[in-house]
Amino acid sequence: MRLFLDTANIDEIREINRWGVLSGVTTNPSLVAKQNDDPERVWKEILSEVEGDISLETTELEADAMYEQGVGLAQMAPNAVVKVPMTPDGLTAGKRLMKDGFKINVTLVFSPAQAILAAEIGAYIVSPFIGRIDDMAGDGMHALRQICEIYEVQGYETNVLAASLRHPMHVVEAGLCGADIATMPFAVFKQLVKHPLTDIGLEKFLGDWKSLQERKEGA
Ligand code: E4P
Repeated sequence: MRLFLDTANIDEIREINRWGVLSGVTTNPSLVAKQNDDPERVWKEILSEVEGDISLETTELEADAMYEQGVGLAQMAPNAVVKVPMTPDGLTAGKRLMKDGFKINVTLVFSPAQAILAAEIGAYIVSPFIGRIDDMAGDGMHALRQICEIYEVQGYETNVLAASLRHPMHVVEAGLCGADIATMPFAVFKQLVKHPLTDIGLEKFLGDWKSLQERKEGA
């Protein structure tokens, strides 16, 4: 399962990229707006920082306008992936973009039925929003499991990207479901690496090492 960062903040991206585990970045209009900067500058910096897929989201609602905007976003860099929403216009624009050889990510997906539509237009990525389904008292992980199973049974090649992940167990469960990609905020990435027993174990190892050095110096 590839791990993506769900942010438009370049410092967060640089920090996780340093670990050697970052395969891509997902952005959305809210995340870009949070940077309070020129969106094009923000996107360009991310596109050149990370080699993998970088999702940039369209904001036009009508199919032709969304397609034109998508072409502009796709042409920013070879690793740009155009995000289109799960709407009839998003499907129309998305299919046209894929036909033209651009990669698309169908976003704002909340049900297996919607995920079937994304696969049928040949989307490169489909993004079910797990945490937001849970927020509505639904079962986000159940929806993800069904999507992965349908894709397997039907032989769909669209990559399933588990989005809106809120904690480390979401990431673990997404892996068990068979998601191809998991995208998560910076805070969740940081939680993944942490375990109190790692800290305790390291402290003990270093303490024992230090005592050995002190004994050797005293001998
Ligand atoms: C995915 O591409 C979205 O940007 C993201 O995962 C949304 O997550 P949220 O529900 O935490 O805003």
